Amino acid sequence: MLLVVSGGIAAYKCLELIRRLNEQGIKVRCILTTAGARFVTPLSLSAISGERVFGDLFSLTDESEIGHIRLSRDTDLVVVAPASADILARMAAGLANDLATAALLATDKPVLIAPAMNSRMWDHPATQANLCLLKGRGIMRVGPNQGEMAERGEAGWGRMAEPAEIFQDIVAFFGRSNRLKGLRCLVTSGPTIEPIDPVRFLANRSSGRQGHAIAAALTAMGADTTLVSGPTHLPDPTGLTTTHVETAREMLAACQAALPVDIAVCAAAVADWRPAEEADQKIKKQSSHGAPALRLVENPDILATLSAAGPKRPRLVIGFAAETQAVEENSFLKRQTKGCDWILANDVSAGSGTFGGDDNTVQLITAEGSERWPTISKQAIAERLAERIAETMGTAS
Ligand code: CTP
Repeated sequence: MLLVVSGGIAAYKCLELIRRLNEQGIKVRCILTTAGARFVTPLSLSAISGERVFGDLFSLTDESEIGHIRLSRDTDLVVVAPASADILARMAAGLANDLATAALLATDKPVLIAPAMNSRMWDHPATQANLCLLKGRGIMRVGPNQGEMAERGEAGWGRMAEPAEIFQDIVAFFGRSNRLKGLRCLVTSGPTIEPIDPVRFLANRSSGRQGHAIAAALTAMGADTTLVSGPTHLPDPTGLTTTHVETAREMLAACQAALPVDIAVCAAAVADWRPAEEADQKIKKQSSHGAPALRLVENPDILATLSAAGPKRPRLVIGFAAETQAVEENSFLKRQTKGCDWILANDVSAGSGTFGGDDNTVQLITAEGSERWPTISKQAIAERLAERIAETMGTAS
């Protein structure tokens, strides 16, 4: 594990964290920032971790022995504790002006942050916006807690989580991260857009949040994941391969290129139809002819194609059912007609808030029956689904 220690009074708590991790057999390599070195010495970190401590991006010896790229990749997890407001801002901005941020920018591994700062800094909209951005990139967080600040007489949110809490999250991460190890997953997400002419297209309201969260949750369990995404405003989740597509036909081709996989989850809102012809030039408004007629043809059904029996059929194929009425009946039927194993049925009627919203209410429909899940965040649905997948694939620990 790679531990980035940034500046903050809580930096001394890392020593306790490293000790606990070592006792558990988890090897810790540290990067200490210049600000961090004001609170804890490289000597104490290396004494307790039994490893040399890295600190300077431009150290020729370090770069020749082990560069920042290798440092950030030769690990299963990167933990930033304490994560100061400053390092969070630099991570959000993608800066690489010291070894810590260069490693964080170069890593393809999951990252867990343990923020620690004064409560005013924590509450500041800039910090909150940075956290939001980092969360969107799949970065995990533990804490902060509420309590007294280093500054006398001040209290609020901003105290770093206790070493025991951070330790627990790390151990849970390692437990989870093996459950889908060795399995390949394919996830579709977002809308597809179907061109009418060079400037116009048919689209839908899908934000891609559910599909992206599922891809991230499967990756967090160790799956080798490919995300095939239509146009969204979301950042690519870390630790997996994202293929960007626009149309349903492109999405199908990208999915087929990703085969064979063990598990496929089709969460994309694929356009059922596309304009029969895509005009080469912008269609002009010709008032004498009135509005042009738009003739539509059917798009390929990606879920049904992946579900069709054959040597490349994934062992588990999961679809969604977006319904505005008779949700349960329609979803049962959809599972059969598409030939998939499971369907997550959701209500997308106006007022349900599903499209673009944070939460979702789904029902899991399998060959055995149906199960209603409570209204929870899309993130929680993704984690619950990944958990179910792990149980079913027989790799549950
Ligand atoms: N789906 C797909 N390819 C399509 C259409 C849908 O892969 N061309 C997948 C979606 O990703 C989802 C499932 O099929 O997992 C059901 O999508 P939904 O929009 O609910 O159903 P449709 O197939 O479009 O049927 P209908 O519009 O009649 O409800």
